Amino acid sequence: MGKAIEKILVERGHTAALKVDVDNRKDVTDKQLKGCDVAIDFSTAAVTVENCKWCFDNGVPVVSGTTGWLTRWDELTDYCRVTKGTFFYASNFSIGVNIVFQLNQELAKRMSKFTDYHAFVEEIHHVHKLDAPSGTAITLAEGITKNHSAYQSWELVQSKDGDLSRLQGRDDDLRSKELKDRVLPVTAVREGEVPGIHSITYKSPVDEISIRHEAFSREGFALGAVLAAEFLKGKSNGVFGMEDLLK
Ligand SMILES: NC(=O)c1ccc[n+]([C@@H]2O[C@H](COP(=O)([O-])OP(=O)(O)OC[C@H]3O[C@@H](n4cnc5c(N)ncnc54)[C@H](O)[C@@H]3O)[C@@H](O)[C@H]2O)c1
Repeated sequence: MGKAIEKILVERGHTAALKVDVDNRKDVTDKQLKGCDVAIDFSTAAVTVENCKWCFDNGVPVVSGTTGWLTRWDELTDYCRVTKGTFFYASNFSIGVNIVFQLNQELAKRMSKFTDYHAFVEEIHHVHKLDAPSGTAITLAEGITKNHSAYQSWELVQSKDGDLSRLQGRDDDLRSKELKDRVLPVTAVREGEVPGIHSITYKSPVDEISIRHEAFSREGFALGAVLAAEFLKGKSNGVFGMEDLLK
């Protein structure tokens, strides 16, 4: 993502003034960091919280797209507020995915009335992705649990043979478990170099409704992150997300 972001930054007339990665992180000084208008963080769940705090401590706004760390959301956003920092977070910076987030919430509200339909969320990503399910799949699942009266929680499910299977949502045993527990099944598949496919499906005995988003490359995520960085210019401190940008 760092490389894709740098390409877009340059195309839009910006400069990547400082590039930080696992190899040089310990050598980068606070003074170097302070020289930047904004930091864009696409790193790993293990390091992102500390790196974001480092930016807040130095008065540098942060745009972050790193996934897999959200159990520490309250800790980091509290730290941001206490230090009067500026933080923009999105589990997915693609404009198309964020439109799907909105459609997903609306569809979940409508489908609440139709109990013949059983929902499931599926994501497919490249084999290098460390976390599962993706942050995007979690946002989609939460969009359903918060808006559909039949689903109170979601669960990452595995197929009978232990593999994560793209067909799980259609499995009969799974469907009966889902009905019993009111748990929304989420499946995560890792395949080749897939940049990201997400779908939400409602299946009844007679038909199926689905919304699907497929990213063709990483460029859409990189563009969204740069747009978010531009959006932060002149903003006072606080916590922002894609809904603020899309407005
Ligand atoms: N929100 C989105 O739209 C979106 C899109 C794509 C990827 N992602 C997420 O972004 C993250 C990065 O994805 P990627 O595909 O670029 O992964 P990657 O493995 O290619 O890159 C991770 C980078 O983090 C750096 N890093 C590791 N430790 C560090 C440290 N202590 N300090 C600074 N940098 C450090 C590594 O050197 C590497 O350059 C993942 O969490 C992924 O899920 C989010």
